[in-house]
Amino acid sequence: MPLPYVLLSAAVSLDGFLDDTGPERLLLSSPADFDRVDAVRASVDAILIGAGTIRADNPRLLVNSAERRAARVREGRPEYPLKVTVTASGDLDPDANFWHTGGEKLVCTTDEGAERAARLLGATADVVPLGPVLDWRTLLEHLHDVRGVGRLMVEGGGTVHTQLLQQGLADELQLVLAPLFVGDPAAPRLFGPGPYQGGRLRLTETRRIEDVVLMRYEPTAPGEGPAVTAADRHWLRAACELAALCPPSATAFSVGAVVVAADGTELARGHSREGDDPVVHAEEAALAKTDPADPRLAGATVYSSLEPCARRASRPAPCAELILRAGPRRVVTAWREPDTFVAAADGTGVLRGGGAEVVVLPEFEALAKAPNAHLTG
Ligand SMILES: NC(=O)c1ccc[n+]([C@@H]2O[C@H](COP(=O)([O-])OP(=O)(O)OC[C@H]3O[C@@H](n4cnc5c(N)ncnc54)[C@H](OP(=O)(O)O)[C@@H]3O)[C@@H](O)[C@H]2O)c1
Ligand SMILES: [Zn+2]
Repeated sequence: MPLPYVLLSAAVSLDGFLDDTGPERLLLSSPADFDRVDAVRASVDAILIGAGTIRADNPRLLVNSAERRAARVREGRPEYPLKVTVTASGDLDPDANFWHTGGEKLVCTTDEGAERAARLLGATADVVPLGPVLDWRTLLEHLHDVRGVGRLMVEGGGTVHTQLLQQGLADELQLVLAPLFVGDPAAPRLFGPGPYQGGRLRLTETRRIEDVVLMRYEPTAPGEGPAVTAADRHWLRAACELAALCPPSATAFSVGAVVVAADGTELARGHSREGDDPVVHAEEAALAKTDPADPRLAGATVYSSLEPCARRASRPAPCAELILRAGPRRVVTAWREPDTFVAAADGTGVLRGGGAEVVVLPEFEALAKAPNAHLTG
């Protein structure tokens, strides 16, 4: 059963706490990071929080930028993402901000919790009983199949993040480390005890945002990560070297891409702004040289020095979409797209949502970034 792409988002103190024990919510992020979170919210179909966070923080969970909301509407999406909460008790305050701001609201709960939630909330929200106990996979299937959620952002609290990670259901963790200590053992922790799936997480990006640091991780599957061969390293290096051929630009990245059949035959290669086209992207240029009827495309891998784009102003279809249409279901890249030109770029999410495997080989990041040094600072 397909599930939504699940992105966990949290801010944490240096000593690993999500909040203090005071009545007010502890502000961990910086203003620019709150704006980054706003962009991520604008990029998703639904935002989920635990009922504990509604009780503790009384959040609104809005997309605050009118511009981002307008862009959603232009793309045919609802102005605000669906707001989802989980509860076993059904003990929800009908006056909480959650119910009176933003878009549609959904309560995912147990059969018992549903009675109480429906009684307390009336027509304010859809209340969905998901069985005698709440199973996360069932919840995610419901969001995907019934509510059409392709991308889900989870904004806590700790008990929710812990369960999703421990059950291997998180695709990405966006963690912001704030330069302060809480120091109170009674404060809520980000991650609780218990068995976690997989081993070391894969670090896909670090970014300084004012005085906080954003770290993006991908949990790895139990056992080893995705299978990576010597051929993958060879072709990704070739893609990174192609990036150096791009005419320089102050407004776009220099990227190289190679499309390689399963038997190791190179099908095409391309780089940004190739030929006479000032806006063409590397993957797009490479795919344009393939024969759409070539049966080898379905089993091919696209090697791209930068994560394929998820959105672009200059063309109707972003590269992640072009790859899915052309057939390949495997992408190997060196570097996740930073939000230099597009906020909350997430080609990986689009590709995975379309059933493709995306492998990031960070050992090639420096090589891929070299022709972009003037853009990345
Ligand atoms: N720094 C950050 O980024 C951040 C983000 C979010 C929250 N926070 C902080 O986190 C704290 C709240 O965290 P928390 O861990 O107490 O609360 P939480 O994770 O938001 O919510 C826990 C509640 O969610 C429901 N729930 C969780 N798992 C469930 C399951 N498997 N089945 C059914 N219901 C389930 C239960 O609700 P019922 O009790 O109703 O059954 C449970 O008590 C607050 O202090 C808040 O400030 C910080
Ligand atoms: Zn692109």
